Amino acid sequence: MSTHIGAAPGEIAQTVLLPGDPLRAKWAAETFLDAPRCINEVRGMFDFTGKWRGHEVTIQGSGMGMPSLSIYVNELIRDYDARTLIRVGSCGAMQADIVVRDVILAVTASSVGNPSRAMLREIHYAPHADYGLLRAAHDAAMRRGTAVHVGGIYSSDTFYDERPDLHDQMVRHGILAVEMEAAELYTLAARHGRRALAVLTVSDHLVTGEDLPAMERERSFGDMVEIALEAAFA
Ligand code: ADE
Repeated sequence: MSTHIGAAPGEIAQTVLLPGDPLRAKWAAETFLDAPRCINEVRGMFDFTGKWRGHEVTIQGSGMGMPSLSIYVNELIRDYDARTLIRVGSCGAMQADIVVRDVILAVTASSVGNPSRAMLREIHYAPHADYGLLRAAHDAAMRRGTAVHVGGIYSSDTFYDERPDLHDQMVRHGILAVEMEAAELYTLAARHGRRALAVLTVSDHLVTGEDLPAMERERSFGDMVEIALEAAFA
């Protein structure tokens, strides 16, 4: 057991998928894994371990925002030796050529700050994905015929952001989309020598106002989980 995860040693796989929503973790495990078993229920942040094409996989909710993800990822790495950590979540698109349901693979994740910021002092560290995972995810998306974009994203501390001028600058600088977790995931993975990637589905568009209806979110989420699994074991 770690402070916030109730799983016994050995119950968490070396490959962990991290949706923000614990109910998505349950749905993904029951949909894609063989013999999934729930190994953690602390704070309702479910953890399921099962097999995908013979490989052990854990799917664990990370919660919303970098402070929450930071707790789970620190414990997954330090206490359970997780080696490959892939965020699967939603994002808001910022560029005109992106539409809802498209998939985004985040090469880098910019932020105003993240829980690791103080550690890096005056350095403006560039949190980045593992290239091997990124390439394998891109290959998987291509094979599946999924519309995919590869580039930089922004990890925000606020869902309800009231700084349109900041958004304008990000659009100008080519940021593809906004979400709330990847910058801390990438920084922690780099610090501990682990592989990380964020595979994101566009659920809304900050410029066009397009929004994915709730019923359709599940199907797009499934696509993303399969891309992440194929990348993890490529
Ligand atoms: N996740 C999905 N859509 C988002 C948005 N518009 N802002 C931040 N995180 C998001």
